[in-house]
Amino acid sequence: MDEILRVQNLTKYFTKKSVFSSKSTTVKAVDDISFSLKKGEVFVLAGESGSGKSTTARLILKAIDADSGKIFFNGEEITDDPKSIKKLRMSCQMIYQDPYDSINPRMRVHDIVSEPLEIHGIGSAEERKKIVLEALHEVKLEPAEDIVKKYPHTLSGGQRQRVVLARALVLKPKIIIADEPVSMLDVSIRAEMLELMEALQKKYEISYIYITHDLATARFFGKRIAIMYLGKIVEAGPVDDVLLHPRHPYTQALIDAIAEPNPDNLYVEKKVRINEPLDIDVYEGCRFRARCPYAIDKCKDEPLLEKLDSQREVACFVKLD
Ligand SMILES: Nc1ncnc2c1ncn2[C@@H]1O[C@H](COP(=O)(O)OP(=O)(O)O)[C@@H](O)[C@H]1O
Ligand SMILES: [Mg+2]
Repeated sequence: MDEILRVQNLTKYFTKKSVFSSKSTTVKAVDDISFSLKKGEVFVLAGESGSGKSTTARLILKAIDADSGKIFFNGEEITDDPKSIKKLRMSCQMIYQDPYDSINPRMRVHDIVSEPLEIHGIGSAEERKKIVLEALHEVKLEPAEDIVKKYPHTLSGGQRQRVVLARALVLKPKIIIADEPVSMLDVSIRAEMLELMEALQKKYEISYIYITHDLATARFFGKRIAIMYLGKIVEAGPVDDVLLHPRHPYTQALIDAIAEPNPDNLYVEKKVRINEPLDIDVYEGCRFRARCPYAIDKCKDEPLLEKLDSQREVACFVKLD
């Protein structure tokens, strides 16, 4: 399979100022991560809340500037040149957890879905009408002729997320980055939305980066997975291999804490958040060591992501069997 996107040594730190003192702390939101996305695949970025998943997405789309690192689209580096960024933004669309992050509640569905076409100066008003209706048919919002006239608040949460998907589709993207796209949906309609995204992937050879804290949907939808912890990729490989046979204690902890990585658990709502011990510098050595039941002295050094075989990588001195 050909590679469509490659992220190389991407890094972004934030400085947080304390409200109570002049001290500021550094959050290593994304710290030297590399991965690639192949044409037509679903690559999952998984990890607890705060592990750096959304920051990674924003860096790829150049919504924020990286401290360092490179991004390649179709083998070409995306530079800060406006032309390069425009090309990326046409081919790479984003879907957020909350539909209201990408749609204006005061606009009708037609205007919401056709907006990207207008921004990029594509088609006449008539042509845009046709493209919008086609996109609504694609995401199974029927009758499309009625839906176009509606305002978002008159739609259900699932319908609103389909509007967002339609809006992402009109530019015929090669990549869709979906950041927790089903987390706010009722558990009963999550599988439906993911199945729809999968059908579109097959039809148009769209590649997805699927961001989630939920391993059940990761396994349901994903092909390869990278597990993130505090800005680092700690383990990566084919979804089933990693989730059924984790080698990193953090992956194991995530599986234990969240849910069995079983597609049946699509219907179970669980969420955990990183609670870091306050008394150690988590960025020294292995970031997981204070929480790790297997930690050894060596873990005070930083483990690098190493290849286990042609498909799997793990950053751990211990490595589970
Ligand atoms: N604009 C920002 N300013 C300061 N800190 C930020 C900013 N954006 C994200 N962070 C911090 O970076 C870390 C990673 O955040 P994020 O990428 O949103 O994680 P995730 O999507 O995995 O929940 C968190 O500690 C978060 O508080
Ligand atoms: Mg996030």
